[in-house]
Amino acid sequence: MYVPYLPETAPFTPEQRAWLNNFFRELALSALRVGSDDQATDTLPFLSGDGQATPAPPAPPRYDRKHPFPAHLLQRRRLTGEGSSKDIRHVIFSLEGSGLSYEVGDALGVYPENDPELVEALLATLGYSGDEPVPGPDGTELPIREALLRHYELGTLSRPLLEAAAPAHEWLPKLLDDREALQRYLAGRDLLDLLREAPTFRPDPALLVGLLRPLAPRLYSISSSPRVHPEAVHLTVGVVRYKAHGRLRKGVCSTFLAERAALEHPVPVFVHTNPGFRLPADPDTPIIMIGAGTGIAPFRAFLEDREATGARGPNWLFFGERNRATDFLYQEELEGWLQRGVLTRLDTAFSRDQAQKCYVQHRMLEQARTLYAWLEKGACVYVCGDATHMARDVEAALLTIIQQEGGRSEEDARAYLANLKKTRRYQRDVY
Ligand SMILES: Cc1cc2nc3c(=O)[nH]c(=O)nc-3n(C[C@H](O)[C@H](O)[C@H](O)COP(=O)(O)OP(=O)(O)OC[C@H]3O[C@@H](n4cnc5c(N)ncnc54)[C@H](O)[C@@H]3O)c2cc1C
Ligand SMILES: NC(=O)c1ccc[n+]([C@@H]2O[C@H](COP(=O)([O-])OP(=O)(O)OC[C@H]3O[C@@H](n4cnc5c(N)ncnc54)[C@H](OP(=O)(O)O)[C@@H]3O)[C@@H](O)[C@H]2O)c1
Repeated sequence: MYVPYLPETAPFTPEQRAWLNNFFRELALSALRVGSDDQATDTLPFLSGDGQATPAPPAPPRYDRKHPFPAHLLQRRRLTGEGSSKDIRHVIFSLEGSGLSYEVGDALGVYPENDPELVEALLATLGYSGDEPVPGPDGTELPIREALLRHYELGTLSRPLLEAAAPAHEWLPKLLDDREALQRYLAGRDLLDLLREAPTFRPDPALLVGLLRPLAPRLYSISSSPRVHPEAVHLTVGVVRYKAHGRLRKGVCSTFLAERAALEHPVPVFVHTNPGFRLPADPDTPIIMIGAGTGIAPFRAFLEDREATGARGPNWLFFGERNRATDFLYQEELEGWLQRGVLTRLDTAFSRDQAQKCYVQHRMLEQARTLYAWLEKGACVYVCGDATHMARDVEAALLTIIQQEGGRSEEDARAYLANLKKTRRYQRDVY
């Protein structure tokens, strides 16, 4: 009997590997279940090695951040059109057999792999063969090539690493005591830059990995409703690529999902619950969704869900991106929801289609009276996307609208918004 044990190359710690292998073993054993017809139930006995009936195997394990589920990539397609200045992908993972469940508003955690080309460039620069044994983040030994590929961050530089490299670096020692200058230096610099700038800093392989941060999973807002896709999870991934210091940089996880994750190799994932970003319990409650770029992700999930449940509350979406012709994410679906009356209003802001920037908050201000009327009728407001600029500016626009349309002072408007927050009628999923 074939037992699908995880390949050695699968990106798990030994503890996770042992646990998953055990799970696969149990699954494979279940194939020996007596009576393999559709009527088979959990009460049927299992055959042990000696043919004796044994109790049914334990329930499937619970998958979580420490025990991620190896999910198969079902699909990835580009959402942005030909000639777009952005690369945004719709990515679908299968959750079949995981027992995992999620709610709209949740995120998916993804354990990525680093770019093998970057790993090979590092090995060549360091003069390592790649086979040198090093400890992984959990202390288990593995070849350095594998450690760099799957277990350590190569894009961010830890303080201990900078301190260790400083004696071999021309100007780094001066920067270590100047926080702002150090931040400027670190922007867009990775391990390869540091090694190239510190040509005599060539630590032993084990010492080097001890100075690196463990590779962290990345979160993505789920863009599907489990009512519509019970065995799958959809994501909306903005691919991070930029040039810095003369080299093309690739965001680890977004380019892993867009370019390197193979359809036939499972990717370790987990559900990250987000109780602070939930549809209202009352399906008649109106909702106002404000999202720019990939910030549309949870709103696609909300709309799928509201349609599937037949929720009667009106739905208003503000969506912003760069250019209508190429960056109108999910345009057909959104127009379909408009036609079917699921989406009550859709206001778009394409920032680069005219000389003056036009953002979601400008559309909100244009619709101030109606938006305030929705608030007064009990609407919930959701904001998703860029935390640094968009979410701040959208909040300022909300305050202006409450002040202007409600005839309130700035202080009263702040209190109004604080009350919306307190009563969970103003929720944000910003990053
Ligand atoms: C709750 C939550 C939900 C999220 N939902 C989504 C989502 O739905 N869709 C989505 O695409 N992302 C989402 N993200 C962001 C996502 O988790 C990752 O941060 C993103 O994909 C980048 O990860 P990466 O591994 O590709 O890039 P990394 O390798 O982590 O690199 C990113 C880093 O590169 C640097 N950088 C990026 N651009 C530039 C630039 N132009 N110049 C210089 N430096 C730059 C920045 O320091 C940045 O932190 C979410 C994050 C959170 C916390
Ligand atoms: N942490 C990470 O590594 C990481 C990775 C990927 C994305 N992100 C962040 O995730 C967020 C979403 O990224 P994204 O690429 O999908 O979209 P985005 O960069 O937020 O761009 C979407 C739209 O928002 C507009 N915009 C810019 N500033 C704005 C503001 N102050 N108020 C309102 N709209 C504004 C953009 O216009 P213009 O561009 O024309 O100005 C564009 O039309 C961003 O914060 C991005 O930095 C973070």
